[in-house]
Amino acid sequence: MPIRPTSHLQRLRAERLRAARHQRALGYWGVLLALAVSLWVGTSIVPPEWLRTPALFGHLAAVIVGLGSAVLLEMSGLLWTLGRAALDDVRRVERTVTGLAWLGITGLFATGAFLQPDLGEPLTALKMGAVLLAAMNGVAMTRLTDELARLPAGVRFGALPFPLRLWCLWSALVSQAAWWTAVLIGMLNTASR
Ligand code: HEM
Repeated sequence: MPIRPTSHLQRLRAERLRAARHQRALGYWGVLLALAVSLWVGTSIVPPEWLRTPALFGHLAAVIVGLGSAVLLEMSGLLWTLGRAALDDVRRVERTVTGLAWLGITGLFATGAFLQPDLGEPLTALKMGAVLLAAMNGVAMTRLTDELARLPAGVRFGALPFPLRLWCLWSALVSQAAWWTAVLIGMLNTASR
């Protein structure tokens, strides 16, 4: 029996969705594992004193790269919601900064492991919750960007269905809240040493 083009397309789309879901699941597990390893190293080794300054410098550099990428992406999203940019601009920014954001997060996990985090400190535990949230939200956002990728390049934010608009706003809000919480607590911890 000949394959109808629509059912062929539907099957292709279902396969793509399944592959994306699979990749996201790997992403969530990867984040969990990376944070667990970073915290395990951080709480079980005592790094030499000379390593503290380079590790702190690396940590700050990674904050700049990670937070900078998140701010850039959410700023371009904000401009789209205000009608000052097109969805295509947001997608271009997203393609540019995604790799940088993950580079920043990887750098934070790697350098944080040499800064001796004290998980018995409630603020530090809260910071790690924020770190986990920022990274998990980063993985979850791939589902939203897949959804946005199917829309026409010039579509207005206001023309989107309400749940999709809410999803965009919620993702951006969670991302900024989690990043800034981690930054603020990190600075407070360093200042109170
Ligand atoms: C989104 C991820 C993260 C952000 C935005 C972040 C941000 C910061 C900032 C801004 C500082 C202050 C640096 C300074 O003032 O010089 C800091 C310090 C610190 N960070 Fe992070 N950090 C993150 C992830 C991590 C992770 C994963 C760990 C550990 C595994 C960690 C451990 C520490 C420690 C222990 C300090 C304090 C150093 C000290 O006691 O002086 N951070 N962080």
